[in-house]
Amino acid sequence: MSLFLDAAWGKNTERAPIWIMRQAGRYLPEYRALKEKYSFWELCRTPELARLVTLQPIERFPLDAAILFQDIMTPLPPMGVDIDFRPGPVFENPIRSAAMVDTLRVPETGEIAPYVPEAIKLIRADSPVPLIGFGGAPLTLATYMIQGGGSKDYEEFRQFLRLEPQAAHKLLDKLTEVSIRYLKMQIEAGAQAIQLFDSWAGLHDTKTYAEFALPYNKRVFEALADLDIPRLYIAVNALHLYKEIETLPCEVVSIDWRAPIDVVRPQLGGKTVQGNLDPAVLLASKEIITREAERVLRSGLGGAHIFNLGHGIMKQTNPEHLAHLVETVQAFDRRRARESLGC
Ligand code: CP3
Repeated sequence: MSLFLDAAWGKNTERAPIWIMRQAGRYLPEYRALKEKYSFWELCRTPELARLVTLQPIERFPLDAAILFQDIMTPLPPMGVDIDFRPGPVFENPIRSAAMVDTLRVPETGEIAPYVPEAIKLIRADSPVPLIGFGGAPLTLATYMIQGGGSKDYEEFRQFLRLEPQAAHKLLDKLTEVSIRYLKMQIEAGAQAIQLFDSWAGLHDTKTYAEFALPYNKRVFEALADLDIPRLYIAVNALHLYKEIETLPCEVVSIDWRAPIDVVRPQLGGKTVQGNLDPAVLLASKEIITREAERVLRSGLGGAHIFNLGHGIMKQTNPEHLAHLVETVQAFDRRRARESLGC
């Protein structure tokens, strides 16, 4: 076993394992060098390049887990949509009607990103740490598909949910089926944990989340229940959703930086908590990084904790600051800290 997998399965480990959301990417000069030569889709779709990028942060930092280099959009093109990255995802033809939802295909497993299992096998052969596979949660995928790309308010999507709720459910149903096939394929190829990214769930009120996100997330996680891998979930800006999230059949919930772990943990029914340093702290000084990371670590002492940022690392981050963070987290002895705090 590994520290990461132990903590994901609920063990209160002696030190907190650490990995970083978006740990492969534009803050690393070696990633930017590859991007001079290849487009984002080329990096994703060439197994040898996806292996290389996945392992770049692992070679530079002693992280406790690797995450597959792909995007949450990876399984969508065979449904019949065209996606470009500039650098965020842009849909050539956003889904804006019930008729368009009907034209979307639900591809067989073998048609969905066949380069992904190949990449996973290459990574597993070389990685010293467990490999996390991932996908987008159905609601978050639908957000981009209908809006057509990133946005401040996602007004097209929020309008569609109200005007075309049946079509929205049809779309979410198709995305759920594709996600299940895609995630099972990753696990069969060797992914040792799965994280479901629900980046835009927090945009919605509790009732809307309960109707359009929760049942689909449950279906995805239930489909993975017998595959012997820990299931991780992240919703950003979701303090109002934990009562619903607590009911998800998953082992780990990742929380952003808006509330301390010890405040949120009692609402999560014994699941492992992941998080929750504000990614902006890495833009400050090493002294501030030490202070804030130790604050997060102390707040995580009440149970199983996987250290991470509350959301993805920012592209302006100095890699030396991340090295300092990893060192700080790995030097923190949880048992001794508990003794000195008298808990
Ligand atoms: O974490 C990792 O190291 C694995 C790789 C990974 C990428 N995207 C690569 C990527 C992961 C886990 C993702 C997930 C993802 N993609 C999410 C969920 C996590 C989150 O941040 O909420 C979302 C919403 C997307 C959609 C997406 N893709 C956005 C908003 C962008 C914009 C650019 C950015 O970096 O934020 C992308 C493009 C993208 N995906 C890049 C990378 C490295 C940058 C593309 C480039 O190099 O030009």
